[in-house]
Amino acid sequence: MCGITACIGADDSVESLVDGLRRLEYRGYDSAGIAVKNQSGISLTKRVGEVSELVAAVEKDPISGSFGIGHTRWATHGGVTDGNAHPHTDESGRVAVVHNGIISNYQSLRAELESKGHKFSSETDTEVVPHLIEENLLAGASPEDAFRAAIGSLSGSYAIAAIIGDEHAIYATRSGSPLVLGVGEGEYYLASDVPAFIQHTQQVVYLHDGDFVVTSLDGYSITDSAGRPVDRPVEYIEWDPETATKGGYEHFMYKEINEQPGALRRTTQGRLDTRTGGAKLDEFPPGTFADVQQVHLIAMGTSHHAGMYAASLLNARGIPAYAFMSGEYSVVKPPVTPSTLVVAVSQSGETADTLDAVRRARSAGARTLAVTNVVGSSITRECDDELLLRAGPEIGVAATKTFSSQVTALALLAERITEDYTGMKSTDSRELMNALARLPGDVQEILDTSTAREVAIEYEGSDAYFFIGRGPAHPVALEGALKFKEISYEHAEGFAASELKHGPLALVTPITPVFAIFTGHEDEATLSNVKEVQARGAPVIAVTSDESSEIAEFADHVLSIPETHPEIAGILANVQLQLVAYHAANLLERPIDKPRNLAKCVTVE
Ligand code: F6R
Repeated sequence: MCGITACIGADDSVESLVDGLRRLEYRGYDSAGIAVKNQSGISLTKRVGEVSELVAAVEKDPISGSFGIGHTRWATHGGVTDGNAHPHTDESGRVAVVHNGIISNYQSLRAELESKGHKFSSETDTEVVPHLIEENLLAGASPEDAFRAAIGSLSGSYAIAAIIGDEHAIYATRSGSPLVLGVGEGEYYLASDVPAFIQHTQQVVYLHDGDFVVTSLDGYSITDSAGRPVDRPVEYIEWDPETATKGGYEHFMYKEINEQPGALRRTTQGRLDTRTGGAKLDEFPPGTFADVQQVHLIAMGTSHHAGMYAASLLNARGIPAYAFMSGEYSVVKPPVTPSTLVVAVSQSGETADTLDAVRRARSAGARTLAVTNVVGSSITRECDDELLLRAGPEIGVAATKTFSSQVTALALLAERITEDYTGMKSTDSRELMNALARLPGDVQEILDTSTAREVAIEYEGSDAYFFIGRGPAHPVALEGALKFKEISYEHAEGFAASELKHGPLALVTPITPVFAIFTGHEDEATLSNVKEVQARGAPVIAVTSDESSEIAEFADHVLSIPETHPEIAGILANVQLQLVAYHAANLLERPIDKPRNLAKCVTVE
C-alpha cells in the first residue's frame, strides 16, 4: 500500500509533491510527508492524518526545494504516528527515503545496523533503507552506488525513492510494488500511479521490477541491478487529465458511478460483433483457447465478485469454471493442469494476493491471463496474456465502474472461450452482443431515474442490510453488500437467495431491509425467498426490470432496471446498489472516497 511521489525540475517542488500526494491519497491516508532539497540540506515535514494535515503544516511552516520526494501512508509496520510517517532519514539527515511495500528482512538488517551504532527513530521497516545508504556512503561509495548496495540487501516488495547527499538527483527502484516515471519538459516525476503527475505530463515510462532510475535536471537513466542500461518505451497516456480529478462532483465514487456509460463504451469499443454474434477480441483471435478445458478465476474483493459472475456465465455455457479468492488459492497447490486457463482479475493489477496466486498457478503449469484496468501493471507482466478494461482511472477506494467493466470484459472473454471450446458461438450470442451495445445507454437510464436515494433515506438507521440473488445475481448481492458496508460502516451481508433459509434467515427482522435482485435466473424461487423474509416482517427492495409482475406487488420498493439480456442484467442491478450504498454513506456523512482502514490497492498479503 502507500503512495510515493517524487519530482525534479519544477521551480519549487513542494506544490507538485503535495498535489501528487492528494491524487495518490486513495492508496493510504494514515499520514503523509515530504522531503525537499534546498541550499541548507533536506527539509522535511510529515504529519499523521490526511494530506490536508500536511498541507496545513507546510502552510504554517513553509519549506521549499527544487526537488524532493513525498509519501502517503497506509500503516503496515509501526503505529500511525508522526515518527513512523515517511520520509525516513539517516542520522546525519543527508538521506531521505520513501517506500511503498514491505521489507521482510528489516529486523535482521536493523539489528546489524544497530550493532554498528545506528540509532533508529521509528518502528518502520523502511527506516533501514536510509541507514543502509548512510552506511555505504560512510564506506566511501558514491550516492548511486550507496543506493544500489542498500537495495541489494533488501528482501520483500518495494518501490523506493531517495534523495542523497548533495547530489541534485532522485534515485528510485522497484521490485513488486508499482513505480512509473513521468517525462515532462525539463521536469521528471516518479510515482506509484499516473494520476500523481498526469496534470504535468502524459508521457509515461512503466518501470519493471529490478529497474533503477536516476533522474536529474539533465534527464533520466534506467539501468538494471548490474548497472546495464535498460531501454523502456515512453508511452502516451490517452486519458484526459480531468478524469483524475473530481470534476465538480462531491466524491470520486459518485463521479465514477456516473462515468460508467463512457467506461462501458470504451470496454466494448470494437469488441462486439452485433451482426453475427461473438466477441471480436483482437488480443485473442479464434482458436486462442482451443486447448482450454477449464477456467479458474482468481481475484479479491469486488474483482472476486466479477470472477464469480464470469464463472456463472461460463458454467451456463457448459464450460467448467471456478472462482477462487486469490488469497485462498495461494495457500494450497492450485488444482490446475496445462489445459487450465487461470484468469486473474484485478482492477489495479497490483494486488499482492492475486499476484502471488498467479505465480503459483504458473509454476503449477497453468496458462494465465490478466483482466486489468491498469496498463503496464505488475499483473500484466506476470501473466501470459492480458485483456484491458479501458475503464479509465478509478480513484475512489470503492470499486464501481471497474466492476461493470470487468463483468463486461469477462462476458466477452466467456464468449470467445465458448466459441473455441464448443466450436460454435453460444446460441444467443447475437442478442448478448446487442445487449452489450445497449448497456451504456441502459446504465445512463438508471443514473437518470434511480430512486436509490429515497430508499437510502427510508431505511437509514436499520439494524443491518441484506442482499440476496441467484445465479449471476448472487455475486451482485455480495458486491452490493460489500459496497454498502465498506463506505457506510453499517452491517451488510450478501447471500445466495437459496442459502437464506439454511441459517441467515435467523437474522431477518422488521428492521433489516432485504435487497432482492432479480435477473431472470429462477426468479420465482427468489420470489419465494422474498415472501419468507416478508413473513418475518422485513421490508423488501426488489431490483428488477419486471415492474408489472408479482415481484413488484410483493416488494415495498422497486429499483427498476431496463429490460436486457439476463446475463448482463446483474451489471444494471449493481448500478442501483452502488447508488444505494453511496447515498446511505453520504447521509451518514462518511468519508466516502477514503473509508477507514482501507486503501485502494492492497500490495501486502
Ligand atoms: C472494494 C474494492 C476491493 C478490491 C480488492 C481487489 O470496493 O475495491 O475489494 O476489489 O482489493 O483489488 P484489485 O481489483 O485492484 O485487485
